[in-house]
Amino acid sequence: MKTVAASSPGKLLLFGDHAVVYGYPSVVTAVDQRMMVTITESEKDGVMYDVLGSDTRFLDAALHTAQLLWGNISHIAVQTKSQFSEKLGLGSSSAVTVSFLFALSEYLSKPLKPIELFNAAYKAVLFVQGVGSGFDVAAAVYGGTIRYVRGGKEITSIDASGLPLVIGYTGTKADTATIVKDVKKKYENNKEKVKRIFEAIGGLVDQVMPRLVDKDWERVGKFMDFNQEYLRDLGVSSEKLEALILAAKNAGALGAKLSGAGGGDCMIALVTNDIRRSVEGAIEKAGGQVIRHASSGAEGVRVEP
Ligand code: MEV
Repeated sequence: MKTVAASSPGKLLLFGDHAVVYGYPSVVTAVDQRMMVTITESEKDGVMYDVLGSDTRFLDAALHTAQLLWGNISHIAVQTKSQFSEKLGLGSSSAVTVSFLFALSEYLSKPLKPIELFNAAYKAVLFVQGVGSGFDVAAAVYGGTIRYVRGGKEITSIDASGLPLVIGYTGTKADTATIVKDVKKKYENNKEKVKRIFEAIGGLVDQVMPRLVDKDWERVGKFMDFNQEYLRDLGVSSEKLEALILAAKNAGALGAKLSGAGGGDCMIALVTNDIRRSVEGAIEKAGGQVIRHASSGAEGVRVEP
């Protein structure tokens, strides 16, 4: 029986959270925690799912998008397997969408260019979520570390290999769509202030780019702290995020910030190898869960043997 498997990585926003929704640049890195989708030929009519949890909205939207591209798709069984929990906010929805569309394109021998795959997956994700810049889709497709502008207007690969990150999970899943809508309300009610914050975040992304390439982690860490200050001003941080960020900083982290929508999910800290252990310990002592074995700059979507 014919079978094709594809996997894609999770993501972390390094810089530009929220501002990216308003057209400002961001920096996103792919993490090597992967989401795999396997398609197997089936004798049964239709498309059968054997998936994690009961939420098949992203698979349904991806299938619908694929059918618009290639016509009716039938006689397949779809299985998903993940190296990370969907609760972490590491981008499981976009990763499953990208992996499924890529696996389908391979299964049907209908090759897609990366930008075509990005466009199709972004459309499917937007259909389900209603909001989102698409940075998570770009990370899943392209991998590595990229400078990203909403809708894929810019997807530029940056060599930031070896970025020494510690990831701390707050234990709370963030409701991204609600937080993005709350920020929109703030923007509409106080355009001047919120625009100033976004402009500052966008400016910071421009300044940090050469530092990332030079691997000047001390400066990169400072920019993380600045970015966190702006996100705090925006009102999207939480007590738990702040506790983990403070613990990491007190243990010597070069910089620390929330990553993503805020309100929960993960924080990230930039470290040097000699202080990694103490930063991890401090995050755990403050009640966080350290996500180990998740390095940045992971490979984008790929076929699995
Ligand atoms: C959420 O993970 C990150 C936001 O910037 C939303 C988005 O870019 O889609 C808040």
